[in-house]
Amino acid sequence: MNAPALHGLTLQAPAYVKNARLIAWVGEMAALCKPASIHWCDGSQEEYDALCQKLVEAGTFKPLNPAKRPGSYLAWSDPSDVARVEDRTYICSEQKADAGATNNWMAPAEMRNTLQPLFDGCMAGRTMYVVPFSMGPLGSPIAHVGVELSDSAYVAVNMKIMTRMGKAVYDVIGADGDFVPCMHTVGAPLAAGEKDTTSWPCSKTKYIVHYPETREIWSYGSGYGGNALLGKKCFALRIASTMGRDQGWLAEHMLILGVAKPDGTKYHVAAAFPSACGKTNFSMLVPPPAFEGWKVTTIGDDIAWIKPQADGSLRAINPEAGYFGVAPGTNYHTNPNCMASLDKNVIFTNVALTDDGDVWWEGMEKDSGKLPDHLIDWQGKDWTPQIARETGAKAAHPNARFTVAATNNPALDPAWDDPAGVKIDAFMFGGRRSTTVPLVTEARNWTEGVYMAATMGSETTAAAFGAQGVVRRDPFAMLPFMGYNMSEYFQHWLNMGAKLQATGAQLPRLYTTNWFRKDAAGKFVWPGYGENMRVLKWMIDRIEGQAQGVDTLLGVAPNYAEINWQGLDFSADQFETVTSIDKAAWQAELQLHDALFTQLADKLPQELLATRAAIEKRLNG
Ligand code: GTP
Ligand code: SPV
Ligand code: MN
Repeated sequence: MNAPALHGLTLQAPAYVKNARLIAWVGEMAALCKPASIHWCDGSQEEYDALCQKLVEAGTFKPLNPAKRPGSYLAWSDPSDVARVEDRTYICSEQKADAGATNNWMAPAEMRNTLQPLFDGCMAGRTMYVVPFSMGPLGSPIAHVGVELSDSAYVAVNMKIMTRMGKAVYDVIGADGDFVPCMHTVGAPLAAGEKDTTSWPCSKTKYIVHYPETREIWSYGSGYGGNALLGKKCFALRIASTMGRDQGWLAEHMLILGVAKPDGTKYHVAAAFPSACGKTNFSMLVPPPAFEGWKVTTIGDDIAWIKPQADGSLRAINPEAGYFGVAPGTNYHTNPNCMASLDKNVIFTNVALTDDGDVWWEGMEKDSGKLPDHLIDWQGKDWTPQIARETGAKAAHPNARFTVAATNNPALDPAWDDPAGVKIDAFMFGGRRSTTVPLVTEARNWTEGVYMAATMGSETTAAAFGAQGVVRRDPFAMLPFMGYNMSEYFQHWLNMGAKLQATGAQLPRLYTTNWFRKDAAGKFVWPGYGENMRVLKWMIDRIEGQAQGVDTLLGVAPNYAEINWQGLDFSADQFETVTSIDKAAWQAELQLHDALFTQLADKLPQELLATRAAIEKRLNG
């Protein structure tokens, strides 16, 4: 089934690749991108090791000290390529209205014309990796497969950790099975004989493009994270959200955790927090000593695919197989399970290098009690505490990340890989807000919860390129990841509630949380991290009918006395600081909801406007 020679290159698909459409597509893309060679990834450990070795030779990877961090590597990206590029991300549906007001849009034909000359010859002098992957357990009815073509070995090895990547995917695709084609290039072709002058080739020009109707992804110019590991945000959120709309399920920017009580009763919670707002941390939570016998286990740390069942329950899987998590701020105090996950076989990107060949990032000083005397920072420069004091230089980039297999996590839930998923008992929505939004509120009904999720605001973080700390609306933590019209997505959530309700089943409870309220001195008041268990327990008490709560303007909130404070010195006054509802602030907040609703007026569900009116009435009453 091999295609004819392409620019002196033979396609030579391995015998186990039997899908004619796939082979034809690879041939077509090779003819367009003109790589020097094609590597069909088999996903084996030998292949991973060889690619890592190649990255070491290219200077992209530094092997870390095997005595300190076995099997691990450090990569430093180009300083211009450190995060998702939201302003370069496009949803190219035929109709602009289908992309909605929150997405960049271009007509598919126009975008194809734009990308054609960029992709023409874009892989010259490089290897094109054919990366077959499954999002979700191989062959699971909830899983979907994709194939990424990339000229980055860094992408290939990261995809090996982040997805079920390799040969077995071809058995799922078979001779005529479907897959999502994902095109990726760093956009840095090499002329004949030319060698890379940088260890992180990329382009100033960047395009992260989705064609939802034909389910295609085209990514140009970046090698970093969600821009380049196309199974993650591009497929599992933007493309999958449109699949979910069409097929009646949900693709969400949510962690999934299991929480077991001392008597063994177990609940599952899915939580949508915006980028760099605590999903990885919460999914690996270690309960404080006062919660003896309680156990939190991780199903997923970033993405959930959630499907309604005939009995009216919702079951969720984590489509990923690894974590691409924020390093800064992670330490044995904030997230011991995460630190334990990082002890071997990790790819670190944009953290600092210690003099003994290990890694370091801001926050680790909390474990050692002191700053290191000397480091090489993420840009390859000398770093000392004095330089940091004088210049403010960060040793690690604030969006520095680790890539690690889920199986490294000591708190991994036994059902994390179960094709049937887990039953969701509660959803949480939590932004990063220094003011206004209380610690925790339970919605009185599904619509009120959808309203709170839809109008959620959050301060922007280093996870996206651009200004930080600016409050913006981030509905369902999906603003950068929505594959279609945001208002239609709200309707989809409302419809889901109605559909589940019609079965007579108990709906999952909906909560909003905010770990990030600050005091007058600008310090976080809520201790967060493991102490978030206290809020999680209150939610379970509510589900079990054990906590009465108080009715507030926004929903049901805990009484001070309903939270287990054992082992934590947190006064009623401090509790008031993180839970108070400031009427003037909420008047202003409602104006921001209005601005969002004006932006989303096309197809905005009327129930949300009615809910807004009810809140205002309570506010004025
Ligand atoms: P993405 O991978 O970008 O989607 O992020 P995420 O939601 O998984 O965020 P993560 O858990 O990696 O946390 C990001 C940052 O928030 C880290 O610097 C954490 O230290 C910090 N953080 C997480 N949980 C808490 C918390 O409960 N309180 C406070 N104050 N900070 C937190
Ligand atoms: C996020 O930004 O929400 C991430 C990191 O999880 S990335 O995969 O780069 O999108
Ligand atoms: Mn994320």
